[in-house]
Parts: sequence; C-alpha cells; structure tokens
Amino acid sequence: MTAISALTNHQVCLASRPTGLPTRANWRMTTEPVAEPGPGGVLVKTLALSLDPAMRGWMNEGKSYIAPVEIGAVMRAGGVGRVIASQNPAFAVGDHVNAGLDVQEYCLIPEAGIKRSGIFKIDPSLGLTTWLNVLGMPGMTGYFGLLDVGQPKAGETVVVSGAAGAVGQMVGQLAKLKGCRVVGIAGGQAKCDWVVNELGFDACIDYKAGDVKGGLKTHCPQGVDIYFDNVGGEILDLMLTRIARGARIIICGAISQYNNTTPVKGPANYLSLLVNRARMEGIVVFDYADRFPQAIAELSGYLKAGTLKSREDVVTGLETFPETLLKLFNGENFGKLVLQVAAE
Ligand SMILES: NC(=O)c1ccc[n+]([C@@H]2O[C@H](COP(=O)([O-])OP(=O)(O)OC[C@H]3O[C@@H](n4cnc5c(N)ncnc54)[C@H](OP(=O)(O)O)[C@@H]3O)[C@@H](O)[C@H]2O)c1
Repeated sequence: MTAISALTNHQVCLASRPTGLPTRANWRMTTEPVAEPGPGGVLVKTLALSLDPAMRGWMNEGKSYIAPVEIGAVMRAGGVGRVIASQNPAFAVGDHVNAGLDVQEYCLIPEAGIKRSGIFKIDPSLGLTTWLNVLGMPGMTGYFGLLDVGQPKAGETVVVSGAAGAVGQMVGQLAKLKGCRVVGIAGGQAKCDWVVNELGFDACIDYKAGDVKGGLKTHCPQGVDIYFDNVGGEILDLMLTRIARGARIIICGAISQYNNTTPVKGPANYLSLLVNRARMEGIVVFDYADRFPQAIAELSGYLKAGTLKSREDVVTGLETFPETLLKLFNGENFGKLVLQVAAE
C-alpha cells in the first residue's frame, strides 16, 4: 500500500466566475501533497462525485442559500469515498462514506470540519453511486419536496419536470408508490419511454418535441394537483395554466434559467394561484438533514424490494469535470450525473 506522504492530490479549482455557460477557462487544475489527518480527523479517497445543477449557482457571486465558492478554492461537491486514514473513532480505515469531498482525489477532513462535511458511513452493497442518487442529496430533495411540501394524496395528479434526471426519477417513483397518477416532462423520446416503461409513470411529455400544453390537456384532463418544478421558465408558466383548485407547486429548481445572461424569467401566469387557491413553495434539501436517516431507511427498503430504481450516468476521470458538468445543461445526462474519480 502506498504511504500517504507519497500521494498527490489532483484538484479542480474555480479560476473565474462565468458569464453564461461555464468553460474550461473558468477552472484551474492544481495538485498538492496529501497530508495525514490530525487528532479527530479523517482522510477520504474520493471514489465518485455528484455533479449537480446547483454547482452553476455556487460559481456566481452573490447571496444564495449557501455561500459562493471562492475564486481559487477547490470546487464544492458531494461525493462517496473510502476512508484511508483515520484518527476519529467513528470512522475506520476501509469504511465507505458519503461527505462533502469537493472536486479532488483526496479529502482531508479535520475534526473541526467533521460536522460541516456531513460525513456518514454508507453501505456499499446498495451500490456506491446509489448514495449520490436516490439515497443521496437528489433523492432526499425529491422525498422531502414531494412528501413534506407537496403532501400528495392517493389519486391526485402529479407532474414533474426534469423527469428522467436525479430528482425527477425520485419524485415520479415516490408519487406512484403513494398512489398518485404521474406525468413526467422530459427532453427526448428515449427519456420519456424510460420513465414510462421502466419507472412506471403514467405518461411523459417530450417538451423538445413541442406542444407541452396539448400533452397536459391529454394527460391531465382534471388539472394538476402537484407540480414539482425542476426547470422553471416557460414550462412553469405553462403549468400555472393547468393547475387544479388547491394545487401545490414545489419550486425545487429552475435549470432553464441558470446560465441566463439576462434576468431570470418569472411566471407571468401567477394569478392562477389566486384563482385556484393554490400555492408555490420553495424547498432547500439541507433543511431536512436531521431527517435524512428516516428517509434513507424507507428508500433502502423500496430499493431492496425492487420497487424503486436508481439510474446513474457515470463519466470517468476528474480531468473531464469542466465538460462533464455541461451535460446537465444540454440534457445529455440520462439519470443522475456522476463523475467517477477512482475505481476503489
Ligand atoms: N432545492 C434543492 O434543494 C435542490 C436540490 C437538488 C436539486 N435541485 C434542483 O433540481 C433540479 C434537477 O436537478 P437534478 O440534479 O435532478 O438534475 P438532472 O435532472 O439530473 O439534470 C438536469 C436536467 O435538466 C434538464 N434541462 C437542462 N436544461 C433545461 C432547460 N433549458 N429546460 C428544461 N429542462 C432542462 C435536462 O433534462 P432534459 O433532457 O429532460 O431536458 C437535464 O438532464 C435542478 O433545477 C436543481 O437545481 C434543487
């Protein structure tokens, strides 16, 4: 086994803030020696990283639900890895963990950073990348967004955009498990076919083929009780015209707006909330951190029973990070986008 002091940590740092879509020029590849953990600390070898649309927001200056990544800092990312050195009794060498590992090969978590990193042990037999998907942050987002904010009742109609993505696949499958009628919105026939044929959605509208309005009329004739919004923009505005009385709209994200160089496009049709006694409410997944263990226990049960599926789109190589991230914004990812950094 290689000594820790002989290891080199390759990292991807933020070099500048982008305008519009990020380019390779916004990143800088750096290296540093790997250090042993001090008392209470752990050293984790990164195996796979979660690439998330939110990363685009973290590259921006300005106030949000979390501080921006500083220029020159290693890019923030959640990931799964293996403990390779530990001075913390809660983590042994060889343990697999989920934590804020950032875009780098090795993550040294000092004792003072243990809580902030969100590190917890995971069961690799459920699939390492599953812990970045349905058992990870996107899964928790779909779970608490749908169940806590949306409060679905059996028989209601749920529409979810970004349906074949990480959050979307969780929302649709969970809504089916709760007895709802589920309609997805996704880009392209292959994604639509997958959510219907493999995940059991009742229908899916290909927004890239046009006529989302016609699709909603056909598949949601009584209106939409819950709209789980991952994309914002025109689709949100259109959805507002199709909601039923008492509808709940969960504002999870607005990926169609993240790379805008003009102001975010807000919904013109918001008065439909008034007419339909409906509401729109935002969700930030980290607010539910205390309840993740409860959600993970329930979702692991569904996974083991085969009633929940987890699809990941895995790209290999830390150095591909700048281009791989863009897959989220051009719709090339099919399932949860994961960057594999090391095999084991
Ligand atoms: N609030 C929270 O706490 C929280 C947590 C996690 C994620 N989120 C949000 O949830 C949303 C989904 O995240 P995810 O991780 O599950 O990503 P994802 O759905 O796995 O990947 C992004 C997908 O967005 C779709 N997309 C990209 N540009 C679009 C556009 N202009 N119009 C419509 N669709 C577009 C693409 O799918 P198509 O091929 O279907 O176009 C792409 O595959 C994002 O908005 C993200 O920011 C929020």
